[in-house]
Amino acid sequence: MIDASVIRTLFNGQLDAIKEATIRDKVIEAWLLGCERGGWNTVEELRGMPFTLLTNSHGITFIEHTIAVTEGAIGLAKAQLSIYSKMPYVIDMDRLIAGGLLHDVGKLLEIGPDGKGGYCKTHSGRCARHPISGAILTAEVGLPDEYVNTVACHAKEGEGKPQVIETILIHQADFATFDPLTFKNRGDLIE
Ligand SMILES: [Fe+2]
Repeated sequence: MIDASVIRTLFNGQLDAIKEATIRDKVIEAWLLGCERGGWNTVEELRGMPFTLLTNSHGITFIEHTIAVTEGAIGLAKAQLSIYSKMPYVIDMDRLIAGGLLHDVGKLLEIGPDGKGGYCKTHSGRCARHPISGAILTAEVGLPDEYVNTVACHAKEGEGKPQVIETILIHQADFATFDPLTFKNRGDLIE
């Protein structure tokens, strides 16, 4: 069974870095809601889930990807915060970390077991891609609209649309983990 302690264990380091306890709790709540609706019942199932069906993920899991993107976005934020003498915008670290942890939470509804040991796109995923279903989960647990933006607009759905700074950083961190694989898989990664 997946309960709050499971989610806390998976994302311990990142959840601890969220200062506001209510935000931390809502991130956990959104994950639990996603697990419940997507039919994910054990931590082993969650840990086995690939992060994408769009390209060969080379064994990188959904949980690893979520942590890598969150840490990548934190790194991008910290680079600017520590180097710029004057920040032109305010970065909300709670929003950034929560957004990183939630950006792909909709994949819990979008991806499911195919019954043959692999994974496939679910009916829910065909109806709404993960930025949409994830944004719904984020709003349902009561996170503010700006948090919804980090999930709804982190991928192609957000192209050309207004975004909070945290969405921009999460988007870049997301594609910094996704693009190398697509380059590699089509033979364009110079190694
Ligand atoms: Fe992602």
